[in-house]
Amino acid sequence: MNEAPAGAQPVTDSSFRTALGRFVTGVTVVTCRVAGVDHAMTANSLTSVSLDPPLVLVCVEHDTRFHEAILAAGVWGVSVLDESARGTASWFATRGRPLVGQLDPVAHHRSASTGVALIDAALAWLDVRTVSVHPGGDHSVVIGEVIGLRVAEEPGAALTFYRGGYGSVD
Ligand SMILES: Cc1cc2nc3c(=O)[nH]c(=O)nc-3n(C[C@H](O)[C@H](O)[C@H](O)COP(=O)(O)O)c2cc1C
Repeated sequence: MNEAPAGAQPVTDSSFRTALGRFVTGVTVVTCRVAGVDHAMTANSLTSVSLDPPLVLVCVEHDTRFHEAILAAGVWGVSVLDESARGTASWFATRGRPLVGQLDPVAHHRSASTGVALIDAALAWLDVRTVSVHPGGDHSVVIGEVIGLRVAEEPGAALTFYRGGYGSVD
């Protein structure tokens, strides 16, 4: 059995959040469309999984409206946010915001291939088709194939998330 390192702290919600908060990430908005309604959610769990085939994953909490939406949609978009999109990230992380029209205050466009909404203030955009969904505690791990992508020609600074707060890196 593995021994806990000297001075190890108990694993609680709080210590888990603090430890994982030391892992700096980028910030994305994941989007999909179901029955003509756009859904969007801020997510920093986006991870590259495989190059051949090109796969990414996102972990979606059961207790979000986006969970049902992404499973129903089958195709989804990812916008990798730039530093100007701090307010956008906060907006799509706000629990209980209106569902219908939530994209109206945010500059966005539509993917030519899938029709999902993509956030303008981003460094790269992905079109993704779900290939598998795996249980992951209180989240589902949604793995998808990247079926289209675009990168900003002159990328600015990236929006980051570290120790519970937004920052940026060039
Ligand atoms: C920086 C940041 C990253 C987040 N990443 C995720 C994530 O990867 N998966 C997730 O399920 N929720 C994540 N959240 C929380 C959701 O954005 C939040 O619960 C959102 O309100 C869900 O919206 P919905 O209930 O309308 O679907 C994140 C929040 C923030 C601020």
